[in-house]
Amino acid sequence: MMAVTAVVGAQWGDEAKGKFVDVLAQDAGIVARFNGGDNAGHTVINAYGTFKVRLTPNGFSNPKTACVIGPGVVVNLSTLIEERTSIEGKGIDLASRLWVSPRCHVVMPYHPMLEEIYEKAKGKARIGTTKRGMGPVYADKVSYNGIRLSDLADETVFAEKLRLQLSVKNRIFNTFGLHAMDFNAVLDEKLEQYGKVRQVVREPFGMVQEALANQVTIILEAAQGALLDNNWGTYPFCTASVTLAGGAAAGLGIPPASIESVLGIAKAYTTRVGGGPMPTELVDQTGEVIRDAGGEFGTVTGRPRRCGWFDAALVRFTAQLNGFTGLALTKLDVLDGLPLVKICVGYRVENSPRVHHYWEGDERWLGEVEPVYIEMDGWQQSTTAIRDFYQLPAQAQAYVRKVEGLVGVPVSYVSVGPQREAVIRM
Ligand code: GDP
Ligand code: IMO
Ligand code: MG
Repeated sequence: MMAVTAVVGAQWGDEAKGKFVDVLAQDAGIVARFNGGDNAGHTVINAYGTFKVRLTPNGFSNPKTACVIGPGVVVNLSTLIEERTSIEGKGIDLASRLWVSPRCHVVMPYHPMLEEIYEKAKGKARIGTTKRGMGPVYADKVSYNGIRLSDLADETVFAEKLRLQLSVKNRIFNTFGLHAMDFNAVLDEKLEQYGKVRQVVREPFGMVQEALANQVTIILEAAQGALLDNNWGTYPFCTASVTLAGGAAAGLGIPPASIESVLGIAKAYTTRVGGGPMPTELVDQTGEVIRDAGGEFGTVTGRPRRCGWFDAALVRFTAQLNGFTGLALTKLDVLDGLPLVKICVGYRVENSPRVHHYWEGDERWLGEVEPVYIEMDGWQQSTTAIRDFYQLPAQAQAYVRKVEGLVGVPVSYVSVGPQREAVIRM
């Protein structure tokens, strides 16, 4: 394996990044998160059981792997504590291996409240967030109003910053008829939580640089997906952080050129949870069949995910954006029962003779385009026990090859079930 590999979502999240990070972590010295917060929900099924982690890097099941949370991540302390307790409850020691940058911004209890005010105000046009306060915490960060873990280490500094933030935020809450937040209650809660994690809040920079110098295998675990990226996603139906391989360098603090390979994780179909355009969405029976077969309900929120055909125009775009060196095509088994499968290859726009790309328009435009499909035969047999590409039904092989050709990136893995072992290596 290459020394530094980024594992990035190629669609709208939930592509099974967690599973592939867990697979790759078996040979990794470090697994690092570099963006997002506990809006992520990464499922891992291995010998220790089933985990749905939101903040903890997915190297926790390998006792030799350091788990790093870089400064690009925003930390909800209660989630961090809960996850540590539940992971350590399974007999896995994390304390000595977890490194959380003191530069990480802290999700404060007022962030989800501010988010809710905006979501309510937007009504039907709401984003459909995970309600973890991501927009407001990143907004505070970039507008110099954030509180970092390092601030919590000094009670005087923290109290001063909190007092100032509450002096503004409480006025907003009052205006909207909500209860003001009690300074002492918030102060005490956060200091108490900080006390529980103090030991793992330590800057990983030096350790990571040393690992780079020694060619240690490092896996960069992206949260969300490329189409939720704040710059390149379907803004404003996106998330607050940089979800791309390019964000890993800044979000962790490593040179861009140190990233040698980028594994794009793409579902064999498309899903999206929350609002925003999705050209290949199926609002018919087939969409429901895919949702049921794929268990497409949100890991964090339990919401049903919107389902549709694989969109090769989108994934070709995210492959270019991230520089995928390989693709993991996941949940192929979910299509096992379908007599026919479709792949979108581009978009038709009214009064235009040619087929269009994702990047040519904005989110309103994307909501109006007409997908251009190719159709292929389904395979209508179970693939979930197969571990060799050439044992797949001919139609399934053809489907994988077609995806590869249209996206322009070699498929390195095909995933045919949720377990760690359910992988076909190409
Ligand atoms: P992530 O956010 O990208 O880590 O993905 P999630 O964990 O939110 O969602 C992926 C879901 O698909 C999880 O429930 C996984 O257990 C499941 N899963 C992963 N790979 C496969 C696969 O190849 N086939 C099937 N049927 N399920 C899978
Ligand atoms: P993982 O890492 C799927 C979506 C939300 C919403 C939008 C903004 O598990 O793939 P936010 O709470 O981030 O402000 O919500 O982004 N979203 C995700 N969708 N997978 C995720 O993470 C997501 N994280 C955020 O549904 O549409
Ligand atoms: Mg998820």
